[in-house]
Amino acid sequence: MTTEPLPPFPAGFRWGVSTSAYQIEGAPTAAGRGPSIWDTFAHAPGRVADGSTGDVACDHWHRHAEDVALMSGLGVSAYRFSVAWPRVQPGGTGPANAPGLDFYDRLVDDLAAAGIDPVATLYHWDLPQPLEDAGGWLHRDTAARFAEYADLVAARLGDRVKLWITLNEPFVHMSMGYGTGEHAPGRALLFDAFPAAHHQLLGHGLAVAALRARTASPVAIANNYSPVSVAGDADADRAADGRGDADRAAAAYDALHNRLFTDPLLGLGYPDLPGANPEAVRDGDLAVIAAPIDVLGVNYYNPTGVRAPDEGSPLPFELVELAGYPRTAFGWPVAPDGLRELLTGLRERYGDRLPPIQVTESGCAYDDVPDAEGRVHDPERIAYLDGHLRAVRAAIDDGVDVTGYFVWSLLDNWEWAEGFTKRFGLVHVDFATQARTPKSSYAWFRDTVTRPAGPASPSTE
Ligand code: BGC
Repeated sequence: MTTEPLPPFPAGFRWGVSTSAYQIEGAPTAAGRGPSIWDTFAHAPGRVADGSTGDVACDHWHRHAEDVALMSGLGVSAYRFSVAWPRVQPGGTGPANAPGLDFYDRLVDDLAAAGIDPVATLYHWDLPQPLEDAGGWLHRDTAARFAEYADLVAARLGDRVKLWITLNEPFVHMSMGYGTGEHAPGRALLFDAFPAAHHQLLGHGLAVAALRARTASPVAIANNYSPVSVAGDADADRAADGRGDADRAAAAYDALHNRLFTDPLLGLGYPDLPGANPEAVRDGDLAVIAAPIDVLGVNYYNPTGVRAPDEGSPLPFELVELAGYPRTAFGWPVAPDGLRELLTGLRERYGDRLPPIQVTESGCAYDDVPDAEGRVHDPERIAYLDGHLRAVRAAIDDGVDVTGYFVWSLLDNWEWAEGFTKRFGLVHVDFATQARTPKSSYAWFRDTVTRPAGPASPSTE
């Protein structure tokens, strides 16, 4: 970590922390909540590394006041949480379950009282199980159901939420939930999962219209991005035409991960995606999907290495480890420059089509353990955040309009298929007692966000 002080960020820059419902709330049947695909998946044997479920998670349902107080102590100006669809519509359709919405109503009021902007994600992967039973995101009707749900939430919270995020990482949900089956709902369809991409995007577009009818607050989507590079013996792979298999593999992976959900959102239609069946796309869908958004949410964790696939592989690329980087406890390469590259790359690729960006997730897992005095020191996380904030600052200097940064995550939480084995929090959680202990990165982030700001940039004024 460099000893140069972190340069100031523009006045009005949004500093936040992110969480998601199933990863922290627990209370799976409280106030009439129905089952989601993650309840089903986590309870099935062998799906989650440590055999755990989100039944209790961080018990945030009962401890939200303590968690808002932690955010207040952190000095952040925004909190990105997600609303659990199965709390609002336990069966996935029909009128709102008012007691479920009451929880978010109180949360939003508590945040406002603490001077923290509520940023609500409508869908962070917890589809009501009855909708999955009817085909889930492979089924076109789910898009319409999502817009109805968006309307119900906006009718209740629309006057107070400061930024709406329709979907979280539709790429990860499609690829791991429907492509490889490592996540709920556990379908392993490879490229036949494409309808789950299209119907999520269609649901997003319909939800944007539903939100606009209820609220004047800005609307966004949070996508996951990963700069792609050719790894390994690239030269050996390159054909005489100068654009060999390795480059084709990188372009195919880039189209899948970085463009599939952004080209159509920004009005460019789908990229060429070998193997994807376009039958799900109907006349008029692309116009719905391209409804203008006010902010692009960018979630970034790491870059990706690819090489040409082996003969007979069902995929047009093979993923490989990138050498030469330090790694998090997840094994992910720590590459802050990748964030600058991706932010400037979005600007280059989309030009004036690109709305202002907020980094809606950035963070890392380490095996943080309390010391003999109960303190939790996490210098690697401080170095990680410092490096990634420098990358954001450099991208702003490069002319990219970045107006916010949210750390993933406020709390150590239930990390999907990894269960409780990966800790991403600024606050340590003892899952046996639910005791919360701010780590040294919490103090570091507080000092960072409460420093004097620099001059405003055009979009943060
Ligand atoms: C997701 C989070 C997750 C984080 C770390 C993102 O893909 O939005 O829910 O915990 O990455 O894996």
